[in-house]
Amino acid sequence: MKLKILYHSGAGSTQTIAEVYHELLNCSSCSIESVSLNYDYSSLEDIDILVFGFPTYHCAPSTTALDFIDKMPAFVQPVRLFVFTTYALYPGNALRKFIGKAARKNLVLCGHAAYRSPASDGSLLLPHMNFMFNYGKTVPKLVQRDVSKIRSILRGQTAIKVRKPGVRLYTILNFPNSFIAKRFKMTFTILMDRCIQCGRCQRNCLRGCWEDTEGGPVVNYANCESCFKCIHHCPVGAIILTSGTLKRQKLTLSYYRDLKRGLLA
Ligand SMILES: Cc1cc2nc3c(=O)[nH]c(=O)nc-3n(C[C@H](O)[C@H](O)[C@H](O)COP(=O)(O)O)c2cc1C
Ligand code: SF4
Ligand code: SF4
Repeated sequence: MKLKILYHSGAGSTQTIAEVYHELLNCSSCSIESVSLNYDYSSLEDIDILVFGFPTYHCAPSTTALDFIDKMPAFVQPVRLFVFTTYALYPGNALRKFIGKAARKNLVLCGHAAYRSPASDGSLLLPHMNFMFNYGKTVPKLVQRDVSKIRSILRGQTAIKVRKPGVRLYTILNFPNSFIAKRFKMTFTILMDRCIQCGRCQRNCLRGCWEDTEGGPVVNYANCESCFKCIHHCPVGAIILTSGTLKRQKLTLSYYRDLKRGLLA
């Protein structure tokens, strides 16, 4: 059986879990890939199992994950799906929404999971709290459990068709928050005296928001989903939301490397 792990990740919480899945599965027929703006769906034609991961933004799947599943052509034969989300406080109906769309693409749900993860928004916007920089204490065990489930799907042992999660009514409480976020996009300041013009912000942005100009990087917010990857991964901290975020600890690549080691230990 051929398995593909596909993920969308902003700062790196979802990517880290996807990579841990891949390492624990340790199988020659399993591959891993990030989604991209112009993803070549033909590379999914011969897969039997899709493992899909995405972050929860505003109690829903990230826009990139939704765009990805909306554009995906339906499979001719049913393909098994294991789907997971990462979230900081509450995932709301994120899994349910994604699973509903996936069902229309002939993806048959075999399992789902939600992992409490570092808060890519809260780590920049709220006062420092340790939990916003770590995975939940139970996440390593949950990941082991879920990888075992995926292994049994690979061996064809898991009964097909798992029910999608029920509606979580508390998500209504988040409506004002997501309404404001959709109406008023967060804008950044680029500190040109710090910027080393490395181009990482442009290369890293999956939404194609950055342009490298002679005067330095320029951001166009039209397609931005405020994943904050550009802020967390700028090597010199030159992208800020407010002056208050200048000295904030960031969720850098090396930070996630350490977290990954912890998840695999
Ligand atoms: C714009 C935005 C909105 C978010 N909304 C939620 C939310 O509604 N509920 C929640 O639990 N976490 C929320 N988070 C936190 C992320 O779900 C969490 O940090 C996730 O692990 C990020 O994954 P990533 O690093 O792969 O993007 C939000 C983060 C961002 C950037
Ligand atoms: S990632 Fe940071 S340092 Fe590099 S070009 Fe962008 S703003 Fe400048
Ligand atoms: S510009 Fe927007 S979408 Fe692109 S990396 Fe930054 S926050 Fe994410």
